[in-house]
Amino acid sequence: MLGSIAVRNAVKADDISRVAAALLSFRGANLVSSRVSSFRSALLLQTRVMPPKKYPTSKRSTKKVREGYALPPLTPFYSRGLGSAFLGDSRDLILRVPDASINLLLTSPPFALTRKKEYGNKSSDEYVDWFLGFAPEFRRVLQEDGSMVIDLGGAYLPGHPVRSIYQFDLLVRLCKEFGFFLAQEFFHYNPARLPAPAEWVNVRRIRVKDSVNVVWWLSKTEWPKANNKAVLKPYSASMLNLLKSGYRAKLRPSGHDISGNFNKDHGGAIPANLLEIANTESNSQYLRMCREAGLKPHPARYPRDFADFFIKFLTDPGDVVLDPFAGSNTTGSSAEQLRRRWIAFELRRDYLEGSKFRFLDSYDMFEEADARGKTQQG
Ligand SMILES: C[S@@+](CC[C@H](N)C(=O)[O-])C[C@H]1O[C@@H](n2cnc3c(N)ncnc32)[C@H](O)[C@@H]1O
Repeated sequence: MLGSIAVRNAVKADDISRVAAALLSFRGANLVSSRVSSFRSALLLQTRVMPPKKYPTSKRSTKKVREGYALPPLTPFYSRGLGSAFLGDSRDLILRVPDASINLLLTSPPFALTRKKEYGNKSSDEYVDWFLGFAPEFRRVLQEDGSMVIDLGGAYLPGHPVRSIYQFDLLVRLCKEFGFFLAQEFFHYNPARLPAPAEWVNVRRIRVKDSVNVVWWLSKTEWPKANNKAVLKPYSASMLNLLKSGYRAKLRPSGHDISGNFNKDHGGAIPANLLEIANTESNSQYLRMCREAGLKPHPARYPRDFADFFIKFLTDPGDVVLDPFAGSNTTGSSAEQLRRRWIAFELRRDYLEGSKFRFLDSYDMFEEADARGKTQQG
């Protein structure tokens, strides 16, 4: 239950990591609270000497609300292992989340507002304003070294072979008006994306396939917690050969001085900011169980590997991950598997109902099937 006494006491004690630990203690999720290494503490100290800046704060959240005890406690729609999913508008729900208690806000907001039938980017403007309504609260709940990762699909302006620039507009405004930093831009490449819109790509042949979503990795300070050793990729065959046969240190034609260090096996290759992850889930437990239960699967899920990447890269076990537009709760199920605590907000009951199937282990699946009288005897 958010807004518990533990949260209140932790807030009073002004102890960021205890607030985050208390936030989910209603589930008895007593995992190690975030481990702050001396290196990270040094980085935090470094960020504290930055000149203080004033950014817009939400007019809706009073001090009491922000401290988590002015509102009655909420009942989760469901809770599993390390987290809870809440049904409702994240604009209201987020008011219950204490200041500086979230390590990673990972989300894919809805993009539907860009589909209005008119030329110009008025609808994109509306979209950007809509998202910016959440920005002060998103910033408030993030820890100082926390990150906000937003996955955004592109869109053509309706009826015209030119693109909306809403993602870039949103990025600029989040940084300039709300004090976020762009830690790094990522591109989520889905090789399985179908060509669209047919008119521009297949019929007139004047555009190519749009297979990339932009992903803005934003942070509250210039020093968000991150560790690329947690997301190493397997070495390529040629790199494995080099590691086996050895590499003679020399100056490359490009001018790069490849040192003897290149020969060292670091356990994998550092990934690029182009994430090639196909969105081709077709036979997962989630889809199967949704079908059986007669529930429509969420139409705009991101792949589990996508959530895994950012959760591993930007958090430690025991940290808290929030998805305010959770849909089928891919984020929560990834966090659960990776032993991070999680909070999910979603507006639609049917999406949250289906998302429960992401958390069934084989025992639960038999229980569930029994309950529906579908267990095979024999
Ligand atoms: C693109 S989907 C997220 C899909 C999710 N990443 C997944 O893998 O299933 C965006 C979701 O945000 C939800 N949503 C839109 N506005 C919301 C709001 N104000 N509060 C909570 N959820 C909202 C929509 O119902 C939709 O399910």
